[in-house]
Amino acid sequence: MNMTRRNFIQSVGAVAGVEAVHRTMQALGLSGVSEAHGAPLDLPLGSGQGKSVAILGAGVSGMTAAYELSKAGYRCTVLEATGRAGGRNLTARGGDVIREIDSRQSVDFDHQDHMYANLGPARIPYHHRTILGYCKEFGVELEVFTNDNRAALFHNRERFGGKPVVARQVRTDVRGYIAELLAKAVGGNALDSELTAEDKERILDMLVRYGDLKEPDRLYKGSRRGGFRRERIHEGLKAGDVNDPLDFSELLRSDFWRYKLHYSDSLNQNPTLFQPVGGMDAIVKAFEKRVGRFIRYRSVVKEIRKTSQGVRIVYRAAGQDADDALDADFAICSIPAPVLKDIPNDFSTETQATIASITFVPAVKIAFQTRRRFWEEEQAIYGGMSWTDQDITQIWYPPYGYHRHKGILMGAYIWGQKSGQRFTRMTPRERLQAAIAEGEHIHPGYAAEIESGVSRAWVKTPFQKGAWPRSRHKSPEALQKPDGAIYFAGDQTTGLPGWQEGAVLAAHAVVNAISERVMAK
Ligand code: ALA
Repeated sequence: MNMTRRNFIQSVGAVAGVEAVHRTMQALGLSGVSEAHGAPLDLPLGSGQGKSVAILGAGVSGMTAAYELSKAGYRCTVLEATGRAGGRNLTARGGDVIREIDSRQSVDFDHQDHMYANLGPARIPYHHRTILGYCKEFGVELEVFTNDNRAALFHNRERFGGKPVVARQVRTDVRGYIAELLAKAVGGNALDSELTAEDKERILDMLVRYGDLKEPDRLYKGSRRGGFRRERIHEGLKAGDVNDPLDFSELLRSDFWRYKLHYSDSLNQNPTLFQPVGGMDAIVKAFEKRVGRFIRYRSVVKEIRKTSQGVRIVYRAAGQDADDALDADFAICSIPAPVLKDIPNDFSTETQATIASITFVPAVKIAFQTRRRFWEEEQAIYGGMSWTDQDITQIWYPPYGYHRHKGILMGAYIWGQKSGQRFTRMTPRERLQAAIAEGEHIHPGYAAEIESGVSRAWVKTPFQKGAWPRSRHKSPEALQKPDGAIYFAGDQTTGLPGWQEGAVLAAHAVVNAISERVMAK
């Protein structure tokens, strides 16, 4: 083995799964960074006087545009197809009704502050500074959202007898085995000519500490970090025996290391993450308070036309038996591509082709009210998530309401194509039953803990028809250009699909572009 210092470090990176991290980020659509798009807002006060803008969609993007443009004096009208603002930012509470194209679910959660489920966005990474900036400006109180929890579980039907293993032990043991292998490589003579004797010593010392290897042989024999025998986590009053390490070949055969183990190393899943206290829709309410007067609810866009003056939006307001028309100098269209592609329009054929090419992820979320917080009571799991190779993919433990009596558990968060479609096809009742059956393999006795549940299949959601654009579609740049006086917004026009940061950055870019055009005249 001929290894220089540099490629030694590179191989450490490779073992740690940089490549896998990258692939997973792409697969999840998480590869964009917020700096990649958008510019700071600089709209002179009153610069929009006498100009009108029709904004299509009162989601986070549309409301951001309305907020910023109205501050500069633009006359904004927001057409919103549904009876509520927020778009995919959706928090379910007791008494809510969740409608899909072929079903209607009444949410049966108890009426308490901590009994809610974010069925759309649920986390905000620390570097999504634009949406966090609005939270600060509007006084939306934040608390920490937890991705990683060492007490949560990894489950694979084929491995470890199909029994879940504790994340703490998986992490410790994978680290230990990797460190042992590297220590063997460095400890031999092969690297003598490439590493100084001091560097070699430092690397070996680092590996011993990194993997908690046992001297003098530098072997991995389990670690206190992974917890103690007989399911004891710590030693308490008595000294404990360290758990036997998990079998290395079983770990290698599991899918844990493919991306689950380093999920929170993805840029957009890095701690610290946040959530608004009391539900993600606190952001919606804060925007709505400021721009609600511009929103025409239950107004469904029927046509998007170009005129000599700008745009004409034909729409149908609820309860009306004829269409209305809204003329404006500009339009900002944040309607999701799967819906937009079917609305008659005057877009160029290029724009139409771009919109038609965007496919959305068939994500599904399923939330359960439980009679008690059994994950806290029995396993000391506070927030975070367990992983499984079953379709439900994850179980999320609420990072709020700790030690209260009941809780809302996210019993499934599915974003795979096949698994998402399978659950989308089910009736709401079938989804709950399937998610309970799968959850039973992770938490035996699960079914008996569940009192009620609700699901959201985004593909079946009216006026959404999907969760977020699949990453690596070619459209972000194409949709960042206006088509005549029509501008496009929403996370679908950014490198941050599926993030509210994308939604606000898209709005900022469009607001700036309109302002520049108006000011240039
Ligand atoms: N932003 C979405 C998530 O965090 C896709 O899962």
